Amino acid sequence: MPADTTGVPLAETAAATSLTGTALFRRMECDTCHSVDPNASASTGPPLYDLYGSEVTLQDGRTVTADEAYLRESIINANAKIVAGYMPVMPSYESQLAGEEVALLVSYITSL
Ligand code: HEC
Repeated sequence: MPADTTGVPLAETAAATSLTGTALFRRMECDTCHSVDPNASASTGPPLYDLYGSEVTLQDGRTVTADEAYLRESIINANAKIVAGYMPVMPSYESQLAGEEVALLVSYITSL
């Protein structure tokens, strides 16, 4: 599924960035696997709320801080670091998302 950037305004304010990130998150169907609030039920992937800045335990026992670089890598190359307790089923979005789109998604996740 190629990323369709038509109609996605490049956001200028923090609020608009968050909104656009929300739309992109839905359009890319990230929400089928990830919950973005405690009431959502998607559980194939880890919940993404309160993730930013937290410590993530990886399958190989290492611990990493979920900073922006980690979030970015998790989106474009999900299998680089596998979260403990989850299957490596997240597709790689490297060829599907433009750099600005990845940045919007990262910024959206940091806002959750
Ligand atoms: C088919 C289900 C699936 C889809 C669709 C999916 N993911 Fe994931 N995602 C996972 C799983 C499973 C993991 C945990 C395993 C791993 O680290 O790869 C994960 C891990 C992550 C992580 C790291 C989470 C953590 O706790 O450290 C982020 C961030 C993330 N995904 C964002 C996204 C975004 C953004 C999208 C949409 C562009 C997306 N995912 C689409 C299944 C999915």
